[in-house]
Amino acid sequence: MSEKLWGGRFEKSTDEMINDFQASINFDKRMYREDIEGSIAHAKMLAKQKIISAEDSEKIISGLKKILAQIEEGKFNFSVALEDIHMNIEKALTDEIGEAGGRLHTARSRNDQVALDTHLYVRKQVEEIQKLIRELQKNFVAAAKKNLRIIMPGYTHLQRAQPILFSHHLMAYFFMLQRDFERFCGVRKRADIMPLGAGALAGTTFPIDRKFVAEELNFGDIYLNSLDAVSDRDYILEFLSAASILMIHLSRLSEEIILWCSREFSFVELDDAHCTGSSMMPQKKNPDVPELIRGKTGRVIGHLMAMLTTVKALPLAYNKDLQEDKEGLFDAIDTVKFSLAVFAEIISGMKVREKNMRRAVEEDFSNATDLADYLVKKGLPFRQAHEISGKLVHHCIERGIYLKDLSLDEFKDFSDKFAEDIHHAIKPETCVNSRNSLGGTSQKQVEMQIEKAEEIFAN
Ligand code: ARG
Repeated sequence: MSEKLWGGRFEKSTDEMINDFQASINFDKRMYREDIEGSIAHAKMLAKQKIISAEDSEKIISGLKKILAQIEEGKFNFSVALEDIHMNIEKALTDEIGEAGGRLHTARSRNDQVALDTHLYVRKQVEEIQKLIRELQKNFVAAAKKNLRIIMPGYTHLQRAQPILFSHHLMAYFFMLQRDFERFCGVRKRADIMPLGAGALAGTTFPIDRKFVAEELNFGDIYLNSLDAVSDRDYILEFLSAASILMIHLSRLSEEIILWCSREFSFVELDDAHCTGSSMMPQKKNPDVPELIRGKTGRVIGHLMAMLTTVKALPLAYNKDLQEDKEGLFDAIDTVKFSLAVFAEIISGMKVREKNMRRAVEEDFSNATDLADYLVKKGLPFRQAHEISGKLVHHCIERGIYLKDLSLDEFKDFSDKFAEDIHHAIKPETCVNSRNSLGGTSQKQVEMQIEKAEEIFAN
């Protein structure tokens, strides 16, 4: 018998370079647990359906468990000649238990087997990623609670726009991550469909019980079309898409943190333990971690593009192109998990420079909208109020002062609607706390958001 499990119809052995080219063992070996889990369920089903004997099934199962232990102890020799994890394990099983091992692959193809393994793997990884998202969300909420009264300028066009609570900014990311969490629930749902039993493409002549396998492996659903079962990679595309959007969120905040760490902003300082220095410039403390997360986002987006391109125009059913689904997926999983874990550290270790944020609010005109709103509340149409406030800002800029420095008489020169309460109305605290519309930046609204977050955590 040839060393290959499919060697029967061949006269020559595979060219060594071709072997290396088409083998996936170097990356798909990480699915060894799922492969064994799936094979155990399959073997149980084969015996239950009397397709193989109970004795053979038991031999297969204990052989597989032994192989699992060998792999986990690092004692398993992976062979490139055996192409992939599926054939490496099957060959080891036959070496271990003899003929019974050769019965495991009855009513199964590697096409539905690899689909099963990948579904199991993605399902599990999604759960781990969701846990990490929760951890990061908790750190955002903790930071939002700790810094609740700190006021910073909110920006549009990267120009100071209106005063906001720093916590309001942090909670924006909490909600972005909440959508990421929910998107991954959708990914999990589409990964939670059981493909085994599709055979190579058309089903099998054996009286299998797919429902039994689905129950053994705790699947919520079963593919009802065998061609779809072996060709579907939507759940991988969805995973990469959800991962890309998540990374984009981390990248946006990374960009903000990088800016905030700069001397020009000086709004936050990262923990020394989270930064690196320069080999030449002794003064440097660089925000490498957020920079790297921003950088790695490109990689994950790249994996999504690669996979979309791989599947586009691919005819049914299995084609070897589909083996290309794994490296990008695995790298995206590793990148996302690492980034989430690291980011949680960054957020909890970040020091907030309250005074600098305050100064950026005080020494500016981000309260100009409040000035206009004040006049509207005194009866002026908004457009007119906007015009007058604009003129006041211009007046201050010309004198090198801010709105708060104007006396009541000076205000009155621009409109007789101004009264004593104007100075109070344009204070940063007033600006923030009067934005008490649902979801606004007032302390009350931010506290409401934090409560909502805690409700989510409790469920
Ligand atoms: N290593 C292969 C993959 O990842 C397994 C399926 C191979 N099937 C086949 N007919 N060549 O897709």
